[in-house]
Amino acid sequence: MPTVATTTDVLIIGASASGLMCAIEAGKRGRSVTVLDHASRPGKKILMSGGGRCNFTNTEVSADNFISHNPHFCKSALSRYTQWDFIAMVDKYHIPYHERDHGKLFCDNSARDILQMLLAECSKAHATIRLDCHIKSIDRDERKAFTVETSPGTFRASSLVIASGGLSIPRMCASPLGYKVAEQFGHHIWPTTAGLVPFTLQPHDRERLADLSGIAVASIVSNARIQFRDNILFTHRGLSGPAILQISSYWKAGETISINLLAELDVLDFLKTRRATQPNTRLKTVLAEVLPKRLMLALLGEKTVDKPLQELSRHRMEAIARQLQHWQIKPGGTEGYRTAEVTLGGIDCNELSSRTMESSKVKGLYFIGEVVDVTGWLGGYNFQWAWSSGWCAGQVV
Ligand code: FDA
Repeated sequence: MPTVATTTDVLIIGASASGLMCAIEAGKRGRSVTVLDHASRPGKKILMSGGGRCNFTNTEVSADNFISHNPHFCKSALSRYTQWDFIAMVDKYHIPYHERDHGKLFCDNSARDILQMLLAECSKAHATIRLDCHIKSIDRDERKAFTVETSPGTFRASSLVIASGGLSIPRMCASPLGYKVAEQFGHHIWPTTAGLVPFTLQPHDRERLADLSGIAVASIVSNARIQFRDNILFTHRGLSGPAILQISSYWKAGETISINLLAELDVLDFLKTRRATQPNTRLKTVLAEVLPKRLMLALLGEKTVDKPLQELSRHRMEAIARQLQHWQIKPGGTEGYRTAEVTLGGIDCNELSSRTMESSKVKGLYFIGEVVDVTGWLGGYNFQWAWSSGWCAGQVV
């Protein structure tokens, strides 16, 4: 016997940041909304974000904080639903939060506060959320309605919103569904890669730097195109920390990056001054004032750091300064989607409306959040994109 389809105005696939925001806004407009998700719980990535405290936005948001083949695309959504709009919702729910470096806003207590707020708003807007719902097929009929076949049954809607996110962290229910739907409806997709992801090392560097696991250093990390000033972290697998995650989104395989491990210091000047005032002091003693001992040993070697300063020629000092302030390292690769915070690339913005996120190819089809070729920097920008793009679609679906 054929099962009766559930008919709703708006179907949203993905019950996380962008999908829930879209559901709230569409529901507020009186649209009947059903959100489908194959996970057993909504908002898994929200819960794991920001080390469990969810860096939910940033006080400074501009298009410059995003990577896309169309750098202008995100401007409209970000200006229509801003960080201040989201902060107002957080304030309405009396969620305590604090600001960390570079304007990043984090929950004081738990990312759960943000998810509960979104779910409460969804409930007020009468949006239905169906979990453990596996999508089997998506079709569009001659009356331009979408039919979605799922494990619990068939759903029909005139608006279909794809909010299924990117490929990062498969164990958190990430899937390529959004890209497949886009492809099915004739959309161009920019190749996807892992972003905001730790680097692995080449075998010789892995050996040389193996003992440094756990050391964090304030640095400037750069390549030919961009630089980031923040901490780097040595791990047992390679290099991580905010500055590394940031540059990873701009890194091409095989490229060398440059790391200034003493960003606040003119190392050559420092060494020359110390040589004049403490000629018998060993290099390792003066460098220990500014750099972890294990790190200087790994980079400069025991023989060099054991030398008294007076034995170091100007030429040698220049080489040491270069080594510490222009450390060149070629990562072996990245840890990939297993640990990446985001997915670069995705659905080509030039085939979407920047105001509504609607497909220019298929009326009634919308793409929001990370599945779109808009990727934020570390710092709350990816959630802000999810809120802003979800909000924009929510006004029109
Ligand atoms: P998101 O990935 O959140 O949600 C997609 C939803 O679709 C999921 O619920 C998933 O189950 C569902 N889905 C996927 N495939 C499906 C299918 N086939 N069928 C049905 N449902 C399907 N950003 C930030 O701004 N601040 C931060 O602090 C962090 N921290 C952070 C930590 C970690 C560890 C990660 C991995 C990521 C972050 N991020 C972040 C990035 C941020 O989490 C991410 O950009 C947003 O969650 C994207 O929101 P979306 O709604 O687009 O996708």
